[in-house]
Amino acid sequence: MSLFPRYWAVVPAAGIGSRMQSECPKQYLNLLGTPVLVHTVATLLSHTAITQVIVAVSPEDEHWMDTALAEHPRVHFVTGGSTRAASVLAALSSLEERADEHDFVLVHDAARPCLTLHDVNKLMTEVRQHPVGGILGCPVRDTMKRTRGSDIEATVEREELWHALTPQMFRLGLLRNSLLDALGAEVGVTDEASAVEWAGFRPLMVTGRSDNLKITEPLDLPLAEFYLQQQLAQGLRLPLLVEEQD
Ligand code: C5P
Repeated sequence: MSLFPRYWAVVPAAGIGSRMQSECPKQYLNLLGTPVLVHTVATLLSHTAITQVIVAVSPEDEHWMDTALAEHPRVHFVTGGSTRAASVLAALSSLEERADEHDFVLVHDAARPCLTLHDVNKLMTEVRQHPVGGILGCPVRDTMKRTRGSDIEATVEREELWHALTPQMFRLGLLRNSLLDALGAEVGVTDEASAVEWAGFRPLMVTGRSDNLKITEPLDLPLAEFYLQQQLAQGLRLPLLVEEQD
C-alpha cells in the first residue's frame, strides 16, 4: 500500500435521461449557459487533491467532443456501458495500470451539478479513516409510505431513512471487486454503496447538502440554476472555470 493514497473521480455520464422528455441527454442540457456535465466536472477539477476525473460517455454520444472538457489534461474519457454500474466499471478498468488498489475513487453522477467543494472535503475527511468507505446522503424529511398498487400498505419509519447522494468514495480495489461480484450475481446496483453492501460491508453515511440534487425531470433544471446562483452569492462556489490554472 502506498503511503499517500491518491484520489480519482469517476463520473458516469453515459445515460440517456429518458425522464427528461428531451432529445438532448440531461448531462448536456444548458444550465446557466453551460452544459450540466461541465458544471459537475468543474467542481471535481477544482479540488487539487483529485488527480484526474474519468468520465464515462455513451458510445452514441454526440456532445462530449464539443465540451471544454474533452481536451482537458486532467480529464480522461472512456466508453460507458449499458447500465450505470457498467459505466463505472469501464472507468475503473481504465485506472488499472495507473492507480493503486488502495487509492480512493469518488464516483459522482454527471447529473448532479450543484455539488459543493465543501461537501467533497467533508466526504474525504470523514471517509479517509473508515475501513470500508462512505457516501454523501441527506435524511428523509417527509413521512414515508409503502404502497401496493395505489393503496397505502404501511408507513415506514423515516428516522432511519436517507436519500443516497453522490459522490460515493471507496478504495479502488474494494469498489471494483464489489461491483464485479454484484453484476456477476445479477444483483440490481443503482449506486456504488449497494454493491459494497451486497458484498457484506457497511459504508459510512456522511450528511451532505440537500441542494446536491440529481437532475431527473424538467422541473429540476430551474431549481439547479437557482441553487447554483445561491451558492455563488454565498461564496460557496467560484465562477465556472474549466481551464488549467498555472
Ligand atoms: O439514470 P440515473 O439518473 O440513475 O443515472 C445516474 C448517472 O449514471 C447519470 O450520470 C447517468 O449519465 C449515468 N449512467 C451511465 N451509464 C448508463 C446509465 C446511466 O453512466 N448506462
